[in-house]
Amino acid sequence: MKKILITGALGQIGSELVPHLQNIYGESAVISTDVRKIENHPIIENGIFEELDVLNKEKYSSIVNKYKVDTIIHMAALLSATAEQNPLLAWNLNMNGLINTLEVCRELGVNLFHPSSIASFGPTSPQVDTPQNTIERPTTMYGVTKVAGELLCDYYFLKYQVDSRGLRFPGLISNVTLPGGGTTDYAVSIYYDAVKHGKYTSYIAENTYMPMMYMPDALNAVVDLMEANPSNLKERNAFNISSMSFSPEEIASSIAKIIPKFQLSYNVDPLRQAIANSWPQSLDCSEAKKQWNFTYKYDLDSMSKDMITKLQIKLKN
Ligand SMILES: NC(=O)c1ccc[n+]([C@@H]2O[C@H](COP(=O)([O-])OP(=O)(O)OC[C@H]3O[C@@H](n4cnc5c(N)ncnc54)[C@H](O)[C@@H]3O)[C@@H](O)[C@H]2O)c1
Repeated sequence: MKKILITGALGQIGSELVPHLQNIYGESAVISTDVRKIENHPIIENGIFEELDVLNKEKYSSIVNKYKVDTIIHMAALLSATAEQNPLLAWNLNMNGLINTLEVCRELGVNLFHPSSIASFGPTSPQVDTPQNTIERPTTMYGVTKVAGELLCDYYFLKYQVDSRGLRFPGLISNVTLPGGGTTDYAVSIYYDAVKHGKYTSYIAENTYMPMMYMPDALNAVVDLMEANPSNLKERNAFNISSMSFSPEEIASSIAKIIPKFQLSYNVDPLRQAIANSWPQSLDCSEAKKQWNFTYKYDLDSMSKDMITKLQIKLKN
């Protein structure tokens, strides 16, 4: 990657991926874009930023042309819980945003990273150690757009040789930008509330397991996949990755090792619980390890330690 354009750069992943890429490739190599412009946002202040609605194909092409972009990292999308409340909006943004991205890649010879999700699986997929290649019959609109996205990206690779690559992200836990309306967001909120109030009410029920990962490991995975030798990749869209799987009570006991008075209670949200019940409990990531050497650093306890230390500094004022 030499000139990288990121869509949806002000979101949970983009806001940490941009500085990560700037550190590796240099500030002038990263072009951040988003449909929103937020006053004094560090991503806008520290680097190149362009306002871009991914549904505006003409402007999309002109920005890619202007900066001679060689790789697009396409993060703009509507996430699972929000998508379920507005399915047509999700279809429009997730599919038409992606097809515009793929067309820009095809026309201008640009490589693509497109994130999929554990939401591409459904209730008929094996739920434990879900394999790389298995049944993908999701029951959410978000999941439908993710499976269709995986297939479209593979199609553009096979038919037009667009170098498209993707990861099926699990729930991502981070402390810079709050998540944008996903089902695994509880695993972020629990840390904020633990530090602020010493207690948390979970909308996800006891004994519900979902695959998860700490943001620094996810950022490294994006770079490692995009820099991998293409001749080693048998899969493209998209690789299973995750570094842990836990239930609300397990993340709570990890937090209680550092904040002993921490208390967990439950007030289950039927919409997000139904989504969680249709998703895998854990993923088989062996193909990612085999094909491009996927690794990670953080387990549940080391993530808790880092999250709580960072949030104690961030939430002091
Ligand atoms: N965060 C996770 O845990 C997670 C897990 C699995 C997959 N993913 C996928 O990763 C990608 C990024 O996720 P995120 O958590 O950063 O999302 P987010 O909701 O935090 O951010 C999305 C960004 O897209 C922008 N956006 C919305 N509409 C746009 C448009 N029309 N044009 C341009 N930008 C627009 C928003 O302003 C926002 O900044 C998504 O495809 C998501 O499905 C995320």
